[in-house]
Amino acid sequence: FNIYQFQEHLIDWFVDQQRDLPWRKNKDPYKVWVSEIMLQQTKVDTVIPYFHHFMKKFPTVHDLAMAEEQEVLKAWEGLGYYSRARNLHQAAKDVVEKYDGVIPSNPKELGALKGIGPYTKGAILSIAFMQEEPAVDGNVMRVLSRLLKIEDDIARPKTRKRFEQIVRDMISGANPSHFNQALMELGALICTPKSPTCLLCPVMEHCRAFHSGVEETLPIKSKAKKPK
Ligand code: ADE
Repeated sequence: FNIYQFQEHLIDWFVDQQRDLPWRKNKDPYKVWVSEIMLQQTKVDTVIPYFHHFMKKFPTVHDLAMAEEQEVLKAWEGLGYYSRARNLHQAAKDVVEKYDGVIPSNPKELGALKGIGPYTKGAILSIAFMQEEPAVDGNVMRVLSRLLKIEDDIARPKTRKRFEQIVRDMISGANPSHFNQALMELGALICTPKSPTCLLCPVMEHCRAFHSGVEETLPIKSKAKKPK
């Protein structure tokens, strides 16, 4: 497994094939933050109009912090999981109060904000601040389970930790924003849960599951996901 070749194949593909998504237009940490929170339990196509509306209404973390909770919830109406909106609003107020409106680039401070778990923290640090940090969600675990033929149960918290360490090793020397988003994009476009299109995959030659013909049996997941 040549890691430099893998990084190159993956990132070249991402740069060429990535979807044109509104939060990818610049690296404003606030935009990255809002988009990643919206994307957590919601599909990209659903998120896009909400993201535009939200940014129009609350263009900066200051605007969000100053808003009434009811306004924030109204902008979230239809997206569901309203605790995401409440936490985001509270965290925006904390950013203004504690950090003068500057979203912290320090992992500890960022991770202490309400609603920012390991995935969101890693996404903001890598995409907005170019830090070599993992951002491991279900898509990334699926991609890496197949790539490395890992049979650990992805429903177990320990498994996510294992994948975070793997990403730390693999991301080294790459563009962190591109690397993490390329893994997500690969999971969304090619390495899909059912019938992955391996023949179109930029890293097919690196994929242990593909070589053994077991891509559809991975990842292993013990219990069903919580219903919406
Ligand atoms: N899902 C969550 N975050 C994403 C991102 N930055 N790009 C594509 N899909 C995502």
